[in-house]
Amino acid sequence: MKSQPRSIHGDPRAQTPGSGASWCNRLQRRRLAGPALGENLRNGGASTLCVHAGTMEDATTGAVGTPIFQNSTFVLGSESYQAVEQGFARDRFLYSRYGNPNQWAVQEKLAALEGAESSLVFSSGMAAIAATVLALLEPGGHLLTSTDLYGGSYNFFQEELANMGRSVSFVDPRKLKGMEAAIRPNTELIFVELLSNPLLKVADLPALAALASRHRLRLVVDATFVSPIGCRPLEHGADLVVHSASKYLNGHSDLIAGAAIGSRKLVDRIWQRMLVFGSSLDPHACFLLERGLKTLALRMEAHHRNAFQVASFLQTHPKVRRVLFPGLESHPDFALAKGLLSRVGGMITFEIDGTDEQALALVQALKLPTEATSLGGVESLVSLPFNTSHAAFTAAQREAMGIRPGCVRLSVGIEDPADLIGDLNQALESALASHSELA
Ligand SMILES: Cc1ncc(COP(=O)(O)O)c(C=O)c1O
Repeated sequence: MKSQPRSIHGDPRAQTPGSGASWCNRLQRRRLAGPALGENLRNGGASTLCVHAGTMEDATTGAVGTPIFQNSTFVLGSESYQAVEQGFARDRFLYSRYGNPNQWAVQEKLAALEGAESSLVFSSGMAAIAATVLALLEPGGHLLTSTDLYGGSYNFFQEELANMGRSVSFVDPRKLKGMEAAIRPNTELIFVELLSNPLLKVADLPALAALASRHRLRLVVDATFVSPIGCRPLEHGADLVVHSASKYLNGHSDLIAGAAIGSRKLVDRIWQRMLVFGSSLDPHACFLLERGLKTLALRMEAHHRNAFQVASFLQTHPKVRRVLFPGLESHPDFALAKGLLSRVGGMITFEIDGTDEQALALVQALKLPTEATSLGGVESLVSLPFNTSHAAFTAAQREAMGIRPGCVRLSVGIEDPADLIGDLNQALESALASHSELA
């Protein structure tokens, strides 16, 4: 005899309105716009959305917070078969590569935070970028992107797209005439990073969105360095936002994840790519991401405040040649950042008055920030473009990009700013003094 389906919601196929499993029932919909937030949350502030949006309320146990659904598959029934047949399998729990309650919970939170209809989480930021670009760029299509890109995105566009029948041009997105001149009849997509790495140049989203709309192109924005607390790119005309959720969204340097967020129609297209690439996010990682997101607004406030203080200190230090932080008036894009970003975030790039080797000595003299790649965690991390993100380039190439010797990238954490400043001060004094004695 076949066993009865067991579910903490009762029979998942029953769909009884008002049965208590309202979260599930709301999501068992056919191409409805999401996120399925309660009325009281629609106009909620960022912290309220961080804490509450998407949380699955489990009527059976009354558990506070979304339980972990560490299962690969779900009981099938006539409604599941109908969903597959009629093309709304994304709205049913069938198999965890297709969808899982933990994915749905965190996806709803992200969609709410970005002010979007829909979202998808992935096994990494690169998985999100690959699925998004391949879903929105047809074979034969042309991608217009930036000269300032995260290395993984650059490698994917430069090395892989041609093998997949797509072409790409790299242009400085701040030179709008150059961008426009690079548009071809087969251009379909513009992809930019909101804050570039490592120089923290700000993309002029309204201008890029206007350009995209004039030429009927789609605009995808990688907002990893800013998070939805700093800017919601969809409100400035972007069609889709992608994130490396491994950074600020999760915020604790303990998982790798990605997200793509936008209209239900586009996200559905990306979902199909995610299915065939198998890049969905494991339920336990979703749980960690959902937990991390609950403090996103609080953390971003602290990152921003600390970074401002650290950048202001660095700017006055005699051994520092240049500080790049878009929250400082000295940053070339300060005015643009002021109009676009409500919080700049915690990334600072600075140049010491010295060589890359001296910068390495400085980093190794720091006691608080950890010498590690990545960013956006509660702990400060520090790295050097010359031996990490831009190691593949010659010194002359780096110089041409604006990355001069002595360049340091600092992801400011949420430690006490006085401790960070004290540590930077001692490292600048000791490392640079001892180096000049040796020289
Ligand atoms: C701006 C940006 N986008 C995308 C990625 C890729 O994300 P992940 O490492 O989660 O695949 C990174 C990673 O450093 C990044 O900095």
